[in-house]
Amino acid sequence: MIRSVVRGFGASLPQRVMTNREIEDKVDTSDEWIVQRTGIRQRYIAGEGETTASLGEGAARAALANAGLTPADIDLIIVATSTPDNTFPATAVNIQNRLGMHHGAAFDLQAVCSGFIFAVTTADAYIRGGLAKRVLVIGAETFSRILDWNDRTTCVLFGDGAGALVLEAQEGAGTTADRGVLTAQLRSDGAHKEKLYVDGGPSTTGTVGHLRMEGREVFKHAVGMITDVIEAAFEATGTTADDLDWLVPHQANRRIIDGSAKKLGIPLEKVVVTVDLHGNTSAASIPLALSVAASDGRIKKGDLVLLEAMGGGFTWGSVLLRW
Ligand code: UT7
Repeated sequence: MIRSVVRGFGASLPQRVMTNREIEDKVDTSDEWIVQRTGIRQRYIAGEGETTASLGEGAARAALANAGLTPADIDLIIVATSTPDNTFPATAVNIQNRLGMHHGAAFDLQAVCSGFIFAVTTADAYIRGGLAKRVLVIGAETFSRILDWNDRTTCVLFGDGAGALVLEAQEGAGTTADRGVLTAQLRSDGAHKEKLYVDGGPSTTGTVGHLRMEGREVFKHAVGMITDVIEAAFEATGTTADDLDWLVPHQANRRIIDGSAKKLGIPLEKVVVTVDLHGNTSAASIPLALSVAASDGRIKKGDLVLLEAMGGGFTWGSVLLRW
């Protein structure tokens, strides 16, 4: 059977690092509070000329170089983002043009912090359905541009960046020993909109709006939802936590990551954590974390890797893949 195999990975971050101490000058907060409650120590913030598309382009170029491919080899680009450069056209089309690519197709996908999970799942469906052979899957965000920098309950949490994977159609035997995506589990429930949303939009206020979150409420749901989609991935493939080489979670809060891993019996040594470096970069957080752990040699070819995320919508999901 056809499998969607990771052929390359890459990332791109803004030049500017913002530490917790710098945020102490903006709002009534402290490095101690941020580290204790979230695990975040710093985040990257886009500067002039840096946008979701420019960061996405950087991640795409890095992933293509890592894969030993050029834009000519790609037939589909999917960009997961909630912070597009423009309401339209899609940031994916912008990136396609920046890459000098004028064939194939490109579109955006919006599932907030679960965006990369939804995008990988979509790419996998295109590949297995024979509609695409090589897909650039990008998670790219500039959440700094939708933050209320006077709201200490949200502005300390998020950062900017982009990560990408090249997924390629390869023949597999149809077992969990295959490389590539083995299962994907997606969920959403719009009843939770008010707990995490942006208070603007083209069809409501005609403005971009700012991110609003009832953090404690989101936190309360997070571990249960994450556990649900991870258990579903194990059940669908007949695997267990013991089979995993790496858990690469969405990076929102160290306490959520540790709590989910503990509940599932996954030792913390097998969990990739980058929330300290990047903060919460929404759809970019998983491909950024993958890029860090694959670059430093932790994630190796053949490793069983579980991705999971939960965020605005609510949306949540998991992808189990063999690297
Ligand atoms: O990526 C999408 C998914 N998003 C998430 O997963 C985020 C989920 N939520 C969280 O990560 C956590 O709820 C937060 C990190 C947002 C907050 O942590 P918490 O332990 O739930 O804190 P809290 O909201 O219960 O607030 C505790 C206290 C409050 O003060 P009082 O009412 O106890 O006096 C807040 O006003 O901390 C206060 N507080 C702060 N203090 C210093 C809230 N934000 C800050 C801050 N600095 N930045």
